[in-house]
Amino acid sequence: MTSASNGKEQPNIRWAVIGTGTISRSVVPDLQSCVGADVVVVQSRDAEKAAAFAAEFDIPASTGEIEAVLADGSVDAVYVATPIATHFAIAKRTLLAGKHVLVEKPIAMNAGQVTELFELAATEGRFLMEAMWMKFNPAFTRLREEIAAGRIGEPRAVRAAFGMPMPKDGRSKWDPARSGGALLDQGIYPVTLAHAILGEPSSLSASGTLRPDGLDVDEHFTLEFAGGGRAYGAASMAEFVEPTASVSGTSGWMVLPPFFWATTSLEIHADTSERMLSAPERIVYAREGNGYVPMLRAVTQGILAGNMEHPVHPASDTIAVFRTLDEIRKQLGPAARARRRR
Ligand SMILES: NC(=O)c1ccc[n+]([C@@H]2O[C@H](COP(=O)([O-])OP(=O)(O)OC[C@H]3O[C@@H](n4cnc5c(N)ncnc54)[C@H](OP(=O)(O)O)[C@@H]3O)[C@@H](O)[C@H]2O)c1
Repeated sequence: MTSASNGKEQPNIRWAVIGTGTISRSVVPDLQSCVGADVVVVQSRDAEKAAAFAAEFDIPASTGEIEAVLADGSVDAVYVATPIATHFAIAKRTLLAGKHVLVEKPIAMNAGQVTELFELAATEGRFLMEAMWMKFNPAFTRLREEIAAGRIGEPRAVRAAFGMPMPKDGRSKWDPARSGGALLDQGIYPVTLAHAILGEPSSLSASGTLRPDGLDVDEHFTLEFAGGGRAYGAASMAEFVEPTASVSGTSGWMVLPPFFWATTSLEIHADTSERMLSAPERIVYAREGNGYVPMLRAVTQGILAGNMEHPVHPASDTIAVFRTLDEIRKQLGPAARARRRR
């Protein structure tokens, strides 16, 4: 198909989907609703599963082999929706096959891998982005606009958490061979939010629970910024930690209600004491599809425009977030725990 983009008629981006799990089921209909995007093939490790998924979501082709997707010259872009520990290898192969790539969060396991992927994307001349949908959510965009306009004065503190018990249902979350643990799966949202508002921290302290097999189950962390700001964050796959976020400044604060990374509203406590304390301004947004449409539309338009990254979540931001995640995990590690016991 074709669509009008940048004022001219262009062929649509032909997307392949790798993985038929929970997130693919939510993202595929949203991707199909985007102008300029066609979902042309879905891959599963099991060809029958791929065929059933294709029939359910009206995708014209399916395959049981990743190689078939990578060798298909008619596929422009690939959405990678597999367990966390598989992202780096699949994204690398996909870039080397000459495809644009959108990888579910977290894009890889550590800053070294993320840097390598973005360097490869630049060498191959292909678009690459982590599917950090939070940064494209209208309430989040408005939060940044209000901060830029000075609505809450100088931003000084970010508080955000994502704690939710993950069912032990045989899926990838509790398997250290496939999972990223609580930090990469959940903590990535509070850390990305803190970076988006306050930049990269100059120092941090973290503590949490690391299983003997290396899987982190929960963590709390404080990030400190050169300008004096702080971010307080937490993640847990064992229990609830209220999934709200707030950003406080010198003349007010704003709240992103649960689930803050996908919220449909923003509360602004600013301007007058009444508005601050008892009657905050509440802005409500309609959710588009399952909530992924704003990101998928932006990525599709970015690829159509010939861009290699997206300014809302570029390589530099993604790599900086992973430097912070790496340092948090380092502080949870056995060496750090032994030091604390002394
Ligand atoms: N943005 C969001 O809102 C959101 C929400 C949930 C998850 N996620 C992210 O999406 C990714 C996938 O999460 P999910 O919950 O969809 O995971 P999942 O259901 O456990 O796995 C996704 C799919 O990956 C495929 N897969 C490929 N290699 C695999 C392997 N070695 N072991 C198991 N499955 C493998 C499987 O599909 P086949 O059997 O068809 O091969 C599986 O169904 C993760 O990175 C997660 O962080 C994002």
